Amino acid sequence: MTHYNEIKAMLSASPKTWLITGVAGFIGSNLLETLLLLNQKVVGLDNFATGHHHNLDEVKSLVSDENWANFSFISGDIRDFETCENATQNVDYVLHQAALGSVPRSIADPILTNSSNITGFLNMLTAAKNAKVKNFVYAASSSTYGDHPALPKVEETIGNPLSPYAVTKYVNELYAAVFKRTYDFNSIGLRYFNVFGQRQDPNGAYAAVIPKWTAAMIGDEEVIINGDGETSRDFCFIENTVQANILSATAEEQGLNQIYNVAVGDRTSLNELFSNISLALAGNQINYKKSPVYEDFRIGDVRHSQADITKIKNLLHYEPEFDIKSGILKAMPWYTTFLKT
Ligand SMILES: NC(=O)c1ccc[n+]([C@@H]2O[C@H](COP(=O)([O-])OP(=O)(O)OC[C@H]3O[C@@H](n4cnc5c(N)ncnc54)[C@H](O)[C@@H]3O)[C@@H](O)[C@H]2O)c1
Repeated sequence: MTHYNEIKAMLSASPKTWLITGVAGFIGSNLLETLLLLNQKVVGLDNFATGHHHNLDEVKSLVSDENWANFSFISGDIRDFETCENATQNVDYVLHQAALGSVPRSIADPILTNSSNITGFLNMLTAAKNAKVKNFVYAASSSTYGDHPALPKVEETIGNPLSPYAVTKYVNELYAAVFKRTYDFNSIGLRYFNVFGQRQDPNGAYAAVIPKWTAAMIGDEEVIINGDGETSRDFCFIENTVQANILSATAEEQGLNQIYNVAVGDRTSLNELFSNISLALAGNQINYKKSPVYEDFRIGDVRHSQADITKIKNLLHYEPEFDIKSGILKAMPWYTTFLKT
């Protein structure tokens, strides 16, 4: 039995109360689904800035009525401290996902990104500390590696941030470390590397590359590659990310108050990604025949990204169950169904 399976069995036998912020979003709704299926009690908080009611409806359709009765939802904004205080009452663990993602969004409006990602983060951290939450797990980001050229990325070595978004995610780490030193409050920061999977939003100007391209291919539209296509990323399937969150929340003493990379430890270029998605769609009877269109590089994007996942493997016994190919294959039926309805 893997460590993750042991933890899941332990949680099922002895359920806890969790708060998921950003629960109506991509990662938040996947965390919700897994925790409800493990018979956990979950409080969810979201202001629908980028999340959707249909994500919550979908989770409801995937769990039993008894599971769904364990979920209570607060429609609210983490920029409001009282909302954060209400949400954190009687909670064992916080999985803080609420933030405005996207490097280009933060370049277009740094003040808006700052308000949710820094003020909102500090509100949540303070409320969780006041409520004596056992552990505060939060979504950090691989963007914190910035302009440091070393590959693979090791947690202790970061460069200069390349976007306002990257600044906000690094500030989260600094605040979390200060809350340990000042108040002895436990947290874990998870530096996600390009998460993808079911319920990741394919729409809007700031959509991530996998859902954006998949939607374009299903609609037989052009796929635009920023740059020469050799930009690379460590794409991480959502179920690996969910695993990292659950292992973090339940971590023993030696694993606490750390920053971890959450990825697969692999590197895929955008050109390879294009082929992977085309192949997976062909397996779902969608044959995309167009070639991608190459445009300028995007400001603020790092050229290559690949994680060293030794630390999270050693300290939290994380074992990614999906690589990019198996993750894309698993996610594709969701896209083909979702985008056709
Ligand atoms: N998806 C990735 O590849 C990736 C990579 C690195 C880090 N992250 C981080 O992971 C977290 C979740 O990302 P996601 O991909 O699920 O994005 P998402 O946009 O689908 O989810 C974020 C959720 O937070 C909510 N939210 C935003 N601002 C809020 C506010 N002020 N108050 C209450 N709720 C608010 C949104 O409505 C949304 O439901 C974010 O913190 C993001 O920065 C994601």
